[in-house]
Amino acid sequence: MKLIPLLPSPLSTLLERITLLATNQGTALWLVGGVIRDLLLGVPLGRDLDLVVEGDVAALSAALVAELGANLRAAHPEFGTASVAFVCDGAEVVFDLARARREVYPQPAVLPVVEPATLEEDLGRRDFSVNAMALELRIVDGHLRAGRWHDPFAGQADLSQRCLRLLHQQSLRDDPTRLLRGVRLAARLNLHPDPATQIQIRHAISQGYLSLLTPERILGELCLALEEPQPLRMLAHADAWELTPQIVPGLHATPHLAARLARYAAHPPRRVPVGQVVAGLFVYDLAAADLHALSQRYPLPSPFARLFSEIPRLRDLGPQLQTDLRPSQIDLFLRPYSDVAIHVLHYAETGIAAQRAIHYLEQMRPLRLPLDGRDIQRLGVAPGPAIGKILAGLRTAYLDGVIQTREQAEAWVINNR
Ligand code: CTP
Repeated sequence: MKLIPLLPSPLSTLLERITLLATNQGTALWLVGGVIRDLLLGVPLGRDLDLVVEGDVAALSAALVAELGANLRAAHPEFGTASVAFVCDGAEVVFDLARARREVYPQPAVLPVVEPATLEEDLGRRDFSVNAMALELRIVDGHLRAGRWHDPFAGQADLSQRCLRLLHQQSLRDDPTRLLRGVRLAARLNLHPDPATQIQIRHAISQGYLSLLTPERILGELCLALEEPQPLRMLAHADAWELTPQIVPGLHATPHLAARLARYAAHPPRRVPVGQVVAGLFVYDLAAADLHALSQRYPLPSPFARLFSEIPRLRDLGPQLQTDLRPSQIDLFLRPYSDVAIHVLHYAETGIAAQRAIHYLEQMRPLRLPLDGRDIQRLGVAPGPAIGKILAGLRTAYLDGVIQTREQAEAWVINNR
């Protein structure tokens, strides 16, 4: 197992220092979960890494803060967990430290009761075989080296066959969020559930396990899903698993939606939160009642709530933007909408409407007039609402090319005051 040389070097140096500290405390450290999976696949690592600690988590996290300058993000000594952050290669990387544990679910879909356990049990409580591998970190002659390797559920073989496999029969009942985690993982890493897992998924859906979760927990998973780079593939999996109607009733993987998501994936936006844009695209065709029900069901963060309320009007705008319009009319139509909403319009529509949306954002919205309110007062307009009217008229004239220079703008104000 040659995973250590695959670690990017700043991270490997950091892990070496962490492991040295742990070793000095007589504590064994295991790299587990997503980081192992991603190293094996050769895909970029996330910024959140999991370490199982065979020893005193509180003492280790305190030493990481005192001696390596880590930032303590959270500590739950009663559960044997702590979260510490470092700046590594110019970006933040977070290590979630946890004692090996077993989880007991007092009822389906509630958070588990946690008890100390062996590493084997800890791996066995996890969701999928590809997330249930562990590599011990050791220091040999002062350098970071691989120690023992645990892959009790053949996760490595599953990865090479692109197979998504649940570890035990109760998994989805214990924690139905795993259905949504499965969709994310399958789409991101191009995995497919094995036949036994498919049966478990179908059973979980038909039993309505998802409805046992709080809306907050479902929403948390949905927000993670919206950040994924392959929204279309995610929707395909969610549809194949018959999950979509239970999460977002009325959402269908139509060719229209597929085309929109493909346009988005080909040129994702750079200056707005991508999760909000993807959410907007997903709900763009929802009937007003389904859209409303969605806002009622989930405690949406305010930018999402605002966007969802804008969608029906935005949809009406699409055909209008296809017609013959002066620039100032386009400005008037689009001005009330957020940058996110206009990005949604850009990906959702085609042809001239799509071009106008992005042109508005890039050229018209940032436009600064050659005169401001004070200039207009100097030209003899009294302070008050008249200034606003003049500015609006000036913007119209400017956008439509009636005026181009400061001199022309001043002349326009004098003629129109
Ligand atoms: N895990 C689990 N069941 C859950 C959530 C997490 O079994 N409902 C386990 C998995 O072993 C997972 C690990 O906890 O690998 C860490 O979870 P998380 O950080 O959420 O995911 P990662 O696997 O690290 O994946 P990602 O790349 O999506 O962050």
